[in-house]
Amino acid sequence: MSVTVVVGTHWGDEGKAKVVDYLTERNDIVVRFQGGANAGHTVMVGDETWVFHQIPAGLLHPDKTCIVGNGVVLDPQAFLQELDELVRRGVDPEGRLWVSDRAHLVMPYHKQFEAIRESALGGGAIGTTKRGIGPTYLDKISREHGLRVGELLDPDGFCARLADIVADKNAVLTKVYGARPVSAEAIAEEYLGHAKRIRPFIADTAMVLHDALAAGKRILCEGAQGTLLDVDHGTYPFVTSSSTSAGGACTGTGLGPTAITNVIGIVKAYTSRVGNGPFPTEFEPQMSERMRALWNEYGSTTRRPRRCGWLDGIILRYSARINGLTGLAITALDRLDTLPEVKLCVDYRLDGKRIETVPSRTEDFERVKAAQETLPGWQVPTGGARSFADLPPNAQRYIRRIEEVAGVPAVLVGVGAERDHMVRVREF
Ligand code: IMP
Repeated sequence: MSVTVVVGTHWGDEGKAKVVDYLTERNDIVVRFQGGANAGHTVMVGDETWVFHQIPAGLLHPDKTCIVGNGVVLDPQAFLQELDELVRRGVDPEGRLWVSDRAHLVMPYHKQFEAIRESALGGGAIGTTKRGIGPTYLDKISREHGLRVGELLDPDGFCARLADIVADKNAVLTKVYGARPVSAEAIAEEYLGHAKRIRPFIADTAMVLHDALAAGKRILCEGAQGTLLDVDHGTYPFVTSSSTSAGGACTGTGLGPTAITNVIGIVKAYTSRVGNGPFPTEFEPQMSERMRALWNEYGSTTRRPRRCGWLDGIILRYSARINGLTGLAITALDRLDTLPEVKLCVDYRLDGKRIETVPSRTEDFERVKAAQETLPGWQVPTGGARSFADLPPNAQRYIRRIEEVAGVPAVLVGVGAERDHMVRVREF
């Protein structure tokens, strides 16, 4: 019996899907615990590329069970599209894909409200993925307007609640924003259609997980986004609306904290960010453009260009504390193979004074000056390495320095896009 939690240490896009796919081999169940269709998890198997948004990538392994946990906000149309594509490509989800009856539903008006608010914020916009994530979590927390997946099982009750909610939503849409009202009947028809297809997958997933633990199974909790996008611990307000850090794995699945055995932080060998907000180690625009092209850093959900910079060790150490990390999985090391030197941020200055951690105020974080140390590059391809000893000495030195700065041992190092491009540094 074990529970391993995998989280991103920075702003997401650290390459979690590849690590999750790798770790799936040694687990029985994979569960997503937060976020929704804002996530984009890409896995490469042979010549084939698979992009997952709401369904755990573990579904590619025919003997594994996958769960969309209660902490996720489910966009049913996007879920079914993703499922249809997987089935079309030969994946069989029957009896091994479950969606929590407690997960909240993303509704069409959530996306509408998000588009209105983001455009009203202009230059101060969060730069969201426009998947309705924030407004759905807002309705969940309000306790008044949230609709849950389990309600799809009772069509009459669902329609009655939807009619009440839509009346309130339309009042705001028309009176506050001068927008057109939405039709409760049209939404009901669409969602009840989805309900027919989703019904076989709906379950009390916390019970599925508890039964699995009792039977000695191994569970992998797959985080989306990253710690700096956590609604509490991230660069608020430039964050997503869920608990992306390890604590979210408990609330978002129903597993208690004492069940967790490992917390693996995924850290890319450099840093990237999509959307607005502070980013102390960001490259100058020209360098950012060059590196983005070299590293193909474009969002897998929105195709937006990602902002790029050196690895930020202060954020990494912060993430290690917030998540209680027990191991690091360093990804995309091979992308640094051609560089004559690599840099790692080890020091923050705010108004000339050294600060030890990530400041809570965005205004302060924007003004932080990141000091980096320079390490020699290795300029040798690392893609063929499978053990730590296979890596060139300067790459080993970089990894050791990352461990030192984080205060957490590395367990895995990714050296390429494919499944087996992985160095096992130590057992965990
Ligand atoms: P939202 O999650 O769509 O509300 O977007 C809030 C912020 O989180 C924006 O800066 C997005 O770019 C960012 N974000 C959301 N999902 C991801 C992801 O999967 N990877 C990276 N950034 C993300």
